[in-house]
Amino acid sequence: MSVPEEAALAPAAWWQSAVIYQVYPRSFADGDGDGVGDLAGLTARLPYIASLGVDGIWMTPFQPSPQVDQGYDVSDYCGVDPLFGTLEQFESLLEQAHALGLKVLLDVVPNHCSSEHPLFQAALAAGPGSPEREMFHFVAGPDADTPPNNWQSVFGGPAWSRANPASATDNDWYLHLFSAGQPDWNWRNPAIGEYFEGVLKFWFDKGVDGLRIDVAHALFKAEGLPDSPSTGGVVDGLRSNPQVSDQEEVHEVYRRWRTLAENYEPHRLLVGEVNLEPARAARYTRAGEMHQAFAFAFVKLGWDPESWAAVGNELEAARLLHGATPTWALENHDIVRTATRFGGGDVGAMRARAALVALLGLPGPAYLYQGQELGLPEVDVPLEARVDPMWARGGVCRDGARVPLPWTEDPALHHGFALGTAEGPPSEPWLPLPAGWGRYAVERQERDAESVLNLTKAALALRRKLWKNEVFTADDGGTWRVEAGELLVCERNEHFLIAVAMGAEPVQLPAGTVIFSAQPLEQEGWLQPNNAAWILTG
Ligand code: GLC
Repeated sequence: MSVPEEAALAPAAWWQSAVIYQVYPRSFADGDGDGVGDLAGLTARLPYIASLGVDGIWMTPFQPSPQVDQGYDVSDYCGVDPLFGTLEQFESLLEQAHALGLKVLLDVVPNHCSSEHPLFQAALAAGPGSPEREMFHFVAGPDADTPPNNWQSVFGGPAWSRANPASATDNDWYLHLFSAGQPDWNWRNPAIGEYFEGVLKFWFDKGVDGLRIDVAHALFKAEGLPDSPSTGGVVDGLRSNPQVSDQEEVHEVYRRWRTLAENYEPHRLLVGEVNLEPARAARYTRAGEMHQAFAFAFVKLGWDPESWAAVGNELEAARLLHGATPTWALENHDIVRTATRFGGGDVGAMRARAALVALLGLPGPAYLYQGQELGLPEVDVPLEARVDPMWARGGVCRDGARVPLPWTEDPALHHGFALGTAEGPPSEPWLPLPAGWGRYAVERQERDAESVLNLTKAALALRRKLWKNEVFTADDGGTWRVEAGELLVCERNEHFLIAVAMGAEPVQLPAGTVIFSAQPLEQEGWLQPNNAAWILTG
């Protein structure tokens, strides 16, 4: 059958069908040639993002920060770090994005700030028992060497550091679920809620379309900060850790933020980094809470049809229970790139293409991470060049997914990452570009009809058409199964299914018409290994 004609029903809210492109500004485009991507570079490259056919961008933090965790350690929530530019440049970026039809979402980091934030500095200076220390979790330890509880930092090592190691009278430790440069706010103090409502209003008043909420499940810790039986940090794998995070009180914060977001026209969007198993994560997108929460159980999948189907069905069960459509992603700045995670080399590259096609056909909003549309692999960043604090504290290294984008095949100006400087050559990029990076360059892929870039554009254009013609609707769910020969099938509704050949042999497709695929079909009705197809059924 052909794609049905456009129907006359009211369209879904924009965010229900949206595809958002995640920009990691320091690696996107370097406007001033200092080696770090910035707002000027991003502004200059906005037409490229618009040309993909996405609905908007999410920008990871560019606010003032000592950059201990590449901007996730914020020292001023309402400004722009000079490394990235100025507030005026941000306003101009916003205006130009809107003129291109792109929404702009920013990152807000409410779980912790930077140890250089003025309120944390004031707390350090004010000493034990002071109201200033009530803004954070300052707790005296049993002795100078023993932290108040056994919690582990997500980045490795204890989640506590001494407030004032040189003092004989100040026995306080402060809590940091991430690095020591990122003290956790005490959300049981109502002053924190008020403070962040001011931050939200600041950016919403500027016309920002929404916020991605960092570590959204962790703002409240269990009352009394009890030991964790597992010492597992903020979460145990993906399981909610009731001693540390995922407390009931946090939902009230998001109900207030949703009301605030809906005081604006158009309504502002809230998307949460809720790094929990589906049943717990879905509770953050119940009616009146956030609009979207990333389906982290899905984001982290390997190439294994059984786990895709199991996670897919778990997400569907959570959707039916809580009315929360999953928000799909397979890559972000914290995770190994799919081309590498799914096997590396040519096979990994094919699988990353297939996964991208599957992702964009799934029911609900989706996020793409910069470079995913180019099929970038994870880079093995040389040891001496690594800067990730997670790596420094003994955890995994996330730098390999954060290497600057290649724009031109020619290595000049670091493959076009640097847009040029008034005088002299640009500085070396903050992470080195590997040899051969030019083969992934935007410019080269734009010319190649078979490139991942052109595949992404075609998938996005067809997706938009399917939404317009109501083959895709906001009510769609996903029923997942694995057929013989490791064929993964996700039935989106009675008209549409996605099939991904995850085994080693070609597999026969379910009945229907293939309207899109990651690679051309070699034989009608059959899918070759590592290919994915969109199929119109009855
Ligand atoms: C989130 C961010 C990650 C950061 C962490 C601490 O998980 O995505 O990059 O390190 O929060 O803010």
